[in-house]
Amino acid sequence: MPTLADRLKNVSVSASAAMTQRARDLASRGVDVVSLSSGEPDFPTPSHAIEAAHAAALAGDTKYPPLDGTPALKAAIARKFKRDNNLEYEPGQILVSGGGKQVIFNAVLATCNPGDEVVIPSPAWISYADIVRFAGGVPVPVACSHENGFKLSAEDLEAAITPRTKWLFLNFPNNPTGAACSRQEMAAIAEVMLRHPDVWIMTDDMYEHLVYDDFEFCTIAEVEPRLYDRVLTVNGASKAYAMTGWRLGFCGGPKALLSGISNVNGQNSGGTSTITQAAAVAVLDGPQDLLKERAAIYRKRRDFVLENLAGIDGLTCHKPEGAFYLFPSIAGLIGKTSKSGRKIETDTDFVMALLDEQHVATVQGAAYGMSPFFRISYATSMEKLADGCARIAEFCSDLR
Ligand SMILES: Cc1ncc(COP(=O)(O)O)c(C=O)c1O
Repeated sequence: MPTLADRLKNVSVSASAAMTQRARDLASRGVDVVSLSSGEPDFPTPSHAIEAAHAAALAGDTKYPPLDGTPALKAAIARKFKRDNNLEYEPGQILVSGGGKQVIFNAVLATCNPGDEVVIPSPAWISYADIVRFAGGVPVPVACSHENGFKLSAEDLEAAITPRTKWLFLNFPNNPTGAACSRQEMAAIAEVMLRHPDVWIMTDDMYEHLVYDDFEFCTIAEVEPRLYDRVLTVNGASKAYAMTGWRLGFCGGPKALLSGISNVNGQNSGGTSTITQAAAVAVLDGPQDLLKERAAIYRKRRDFVLENLAGIDGLTCHKPEGAFYLFPSIAGLIGKTSKSGRKIETDTDFVMALLDEQHVATVQGAAYGMSPFFRISYATSMEKLADGCARIAEFCSDLR
């Protein structure tokens, strides 16, 4: 029998995708499932993006694109970095790819040799560690504790860096906790990184626009300009503009790094869809009011779910600054038994029993590298959130 490559042995299927699929399977069998597992905005893509895509297709913009992005989109991205982040990136420092995920994948492949370490503040988005392992690198998780609001402490970061460290990954607002760093907290992280000139820093700013209660987003290259030459600033259209299916991510960074990433990108894709790129120009250059309008809706949902969770014995939940996730602790429920006799020994037991018994899909904290917690996505309607919260409350109150 022919065999698969050894490199696949360390790469898993994303637990959130697996949970979303389980929920879909149950729903297709007629079960009324409340899905709080998917990290995807429930809003539509803005119509001006769809119109721009349509116009581009009709105008014949349907040929192979430049491998690293169209000049029009790279110019719009340069304007976005200046407007939102006060960062200057010229077109030669910008790359467009098929989602933030592909940008990060290409960056890691372009830089990591076998055995190179990547420091990942955890809990963290599931794919980081898998991408690093794919490249033969070693993910080094650094715990961002519940007690510290899921933030990265400067001491813990310092202790994690070794002569083998190639990258520090940052993702604030964070998936799965929603935690975001203030300027002061980011400056403390930057201070550590100034002492380690051989380490690149990748900041995944995908949830930049999803911050609440007047919290001000900041990104490390802007907070500490002396790090600018080592920072890869990654962003995309998926979360901010509800364009997950269009597959559009981009990055800005130092030229030498960008040329390596561009090399990998040119080999694993023929460039990003011209239609998608036309839509991205429209959202980046178009009216930005919808970002604030949608953030206000997410904030209401966050507060609603937090209020509901506060009334459930055994759960404790930190109030996050951003993203659209909550990450409650179930420490108070470990060791209990569900109504149908299932012992809850781990957060995986908890989310599986919650799905099977109350048909609510969430994701176990273990998938993000921190237990015993679970992730709730509130990127869904108030009705579904109310239903989901009521079912979670019933499930927990039935535990003995
Ligand atoms: C932290 C983080 N980064 C990147 C991505 C991927 O984004 P994209 O759709 O642009 O590939 C996600 C998606 O869930 C995410 O949560």
